[in-house]
Parts: sequence; structure tokens; C-alpha cells
Amino acid sequence: MGEGRRFLIAIDGTAGSGKTTIGQILAAQLKIPYLDTGAMYRAVTLLALRRGVAMSDNAGLAAIAGNLDFISRDATLEEEKDGRQYTVLVEGEDVSQLLRSAEVEQWVSPVATVPEVRAELVARQREIARQAGGIIMIGRDIGSVVLPEADLKVYLDASPEVRAQRRRQQETQTKTAEEAQQGLEERDRIDRSRAAAPLVIPPGALVINTDNLNQQEVTEKINMALTAAIN
Ligand code: DC
Repeated sequence: MGEGRRFLIAIDGTAGSGKTTIGQILAAQLKIPYLDTGAMYRAVTLLALRRGVAMSDNAGLAAIAGNLDFISRDATLEEEKDGRQYTVLVEGEDVSQLLRSAEVEQWVSPVATVPEVRAELVARQREIARQAGGIIMIGRDIGSVVLPEADLKVYLDASPEVRAQRRRQQETQTKTAEEAQQGLEERDRIDRSRAAAPLVIPPGALVINTDNLNQQEVTEKINMALTAAIN
């Protein structure tokens, strides 16, 4: 795989399927930028909560999305000590941990159903990809809506039990295994059933169930598919 070549890679899938971790490993291997679009929906949710914008106020939520001052960068070694995978600055403030708070968790799926919010964020995501030239983008609608022209589309999934276990390790609040699994299943239900850009397996996607695979095995499968896709 020639270095310097810029690839567009779309990784979609259910919550806790390993998208973020796998995306970051691939980005480091391929030396291309990485964007977790879930963090953008979370940032809009955080600002709405802070500013007292009602979750039913679509125009108010879209205004926040349209003006979102969002920067995502890889975590430095120092920052990684608190368990984060990357750093997100919103209006210059490091909100990385706040994006995983219980309140944001509770409201982010409803916010992500709002078509006006999605339109703003999708436009921003396409612009980020255009400027980067090549990118690994993680989300729910990347292969289907944001980057349908991607060189490779991947759809990751895992059983609810495995996903709940992974999410509990990432989140800032303590939950029982049962609570974590219920939360994920509710999130999946909203993500799959919403009218605007629901979570789907994009046509032509490489589907990987990550239950019994380690990170290296998953990234190997994706690298093989990428080699096949670009040759
Ligand atoms: O991947 P995550 O848990 O950070 O995503 C948070 C929420 O945002 C989840 O309900 C799915 C939604 N989302 C979305 O609808 N579209 C995306 N591209 C990314 C996330």
C-alpha cells in the first residue's frame, strides 16, 4: 500500500462494536487523520444542555451544530492516562471527558435523530474529509450518507453482552452490566429506527463481527480488504 496515497475509509457500526479503537489503530498505521463523528453529536448535546436549549427545539439544536467550534486530535501519552482515546476541544475547552457523561449519554441519541442537526454536521464532516484528502471516519451513516464514495466501507458489530462490557470500560459513570446493556440496546433501537440516516449496513461494506477477534485480527481483515479495494 503506497504511503502518501490518501484513502477514504468509512467505519460504521453499533455502539461498542470497536469502531473507535479500530479506527485509531488504522489511522496510525496508514498515517491518515481520523474523525469520530459521534463526538460531534455529543458536543452538540453538551452545548444544548449547558445553554438550556430544549431537546425538542430543532432550530436551536441546528444552530448549535451549525456554529460548532470543534477540534478533535489524538490523545497525547499524558492525557491517555485518564482513559481517553482522543481529545476534543469545543470553543477551546477540553470537553473530552464531559462527552462521556451520563447526561450526554442520555440525550445524544435523540439529538442525533434531528434532521437539521444531521444536515449541519454531515456538511461539516464532508468538508473535513475534503480538506484532509484522506481520512478514516467513524459513525453510523458514514458509508451510507457522508462518504458514499469511500474506497472502503466497513461495518462492525458485536453481541450486546460484549459491547456492553466494552462500553462500561469507556464510560465515566459506574453502571451494572445489565444497565450498560439496556442503555446500548435502547441506543441501537433509536439509531436504527430514526427516519433520518438510520444505522444500516452500507451496500458493499465489509461486515465484521468483533466478538471473537482481537484488535490485530480486525485491523488485518480491514487492511486486506483495503488492499483489494484499491488495486
Ligand atoms: O458512537 P457514539 O456512541 O459516540 O454516538 C453517539 C450517538 O450519536 C449515537 O446515538 C449515534 C449517533 N451518531 C449518529 O447518529 N451518526 C453518526 N455519524 C455518529 C453518531
